[in-house]
Amino acid sequence: MFDPKIIQKDFPHLKRTINGKRIVYLDSTATSLKPQQVIDKENEYYTKYTANVFRGIYTTSEEATAEYEKAREITAKFIGAASSDEIVFTRNTSESINLVAYSFMLDVWASGDRVLTTIMEHHSNFVPWQQLGSGRGIDVDIWYTDKNGLLDMKALEKLVTKKTKLVAVTAASNVLGTINPIKEIVRTVKHLNPKCLVLIDAAQAVPHMSVDVGDWGADFVAFSSHKMLGPTGIGVLWGRRDLLEDMKPFNYGGDMISEVHIDRTVFKKAPHKFEAGTPHIAGVIGFGAAVEYLTALGMEHVRAHEQELVTYAIEQFSQVEGLDFVGPKRADLRGGVFACFMKQAHPHDIAQLLNEDNIFIRAGNHCAMPLHDYLHVASTARASFYIYTTKADIDMLVEGLLKVQKIFS
Ligand SMILES: Cc1ncc(COP(=O)(O)O)c(C=O)c1O
Repeated sequence: MFDPKIIQKDFPHLKRTINGKRIVYLDSTATSLKPQQVIDKENEYYTKYTANVFRGIYTTSEEATAEYEKAREITAKFIGAASSDEIVFTRNTSESINLVAYSFMLDVWASGDRVLTTIMEHHSNFVPWQQLGSGRGIDVDIWYTDKNGLLDMKALEKLVTKKTKLVAVTAASNVLGTINPIKEIVRTVKHLNPKCLVLIDAAQAVPHMSVDVGDWGADFVAFSSHKMLGPTGIGVLWGRRDLLEDMKPFNYGGDMISEVHIDRTVFKKAPHKFEAGTPHIAGVIGFGAAVEYLTALGMEHVRAHEQELVTYAIEQFSQVEGLDFVGPKRADLRGGVFACFMKQAHPHDIAQLLNEDNIFIRAGNHCAMPLHDYLHVASTARASFYIYTTKADIDMLVEGLLKVQKIFS
């Protein structure tokens, strides 16, 4: 039985009160709260087997290495990867995307090549292509959404050409809430240009729904631990095995090599050649516990819970005159993130007034400035849900918004 009230008990953060009032945390799109199980697992490394990985031949180092590699296996299984060798641990989604950008834009692609991305991308999946492409003659094309915040598949057919080397697209928007039809996008891209690679920013997908990278058929998938109950400072890049083997490392140093001589170095095989230096060992081990927590809940239940909340929120928001949100209005097309605006009040005022009642939302452009420009809004007030969010939290949010409306009208 999926019960957010029972789930809440695992989250020490939610036991906290400020000025005698409970916390209503509605910013999980930025980062999720962490359950005790993850905190305990991370601590276990510090209290029981602190040692560097891969290097020691003593018991605790072997234990740490085994736990670190177990987390890789758990992660591979969670996203349907064929092998744990396809899982590279990075610092976050941004670094995973940068790894791919550096590898291809610096070494493989040439002037005249193009990258296609969408207007709904987080800066993480836009700035690397823009910055590394400019000066190398590699241009970025943009796939725009329609007025409902959805990508038009017909438009894709005109955007992918023989020059398109990569399509970099988010699986779920952190502003519009839109869930993109990734399998269909990948199939269409590969049909139009079989050599074109597809990278999926899954930072808002892997934490919220079942993802099977084999089923998606993409070449790279990037996501972050901290958005799915895990520690900060850990990201994942899943890549097709043959591509990872061919790619050059992004960072150089210890651990990622098998031989170093004065005149040459031989790198380890993927994924280890991409993990230079001592990794965030405790973080990876804690992340493994986060994946186990979500696996035990069942991702189909996580998605069903969020859909129920989305449906409820859309109904309840209609009580607040002048309130609107961007992205699809249909619950089945979106995730539990609402970037709202109110005729009467600035998003920062909304966030600040809600904060007085310990209702934590985020105001700003949510690292999606091109999208906000396209929507002709400078900023939005964003509330987002996760496994521990209840309908009572949404009621509190609506009550808070009614208060804001009263003050500003
Ligand atoms: C869709 C999306 N992509 C990428 C990122 C970047 O994630 P990170 O900050 O963990 O690199 C975020 C973070 O909000 C996001 O929502």
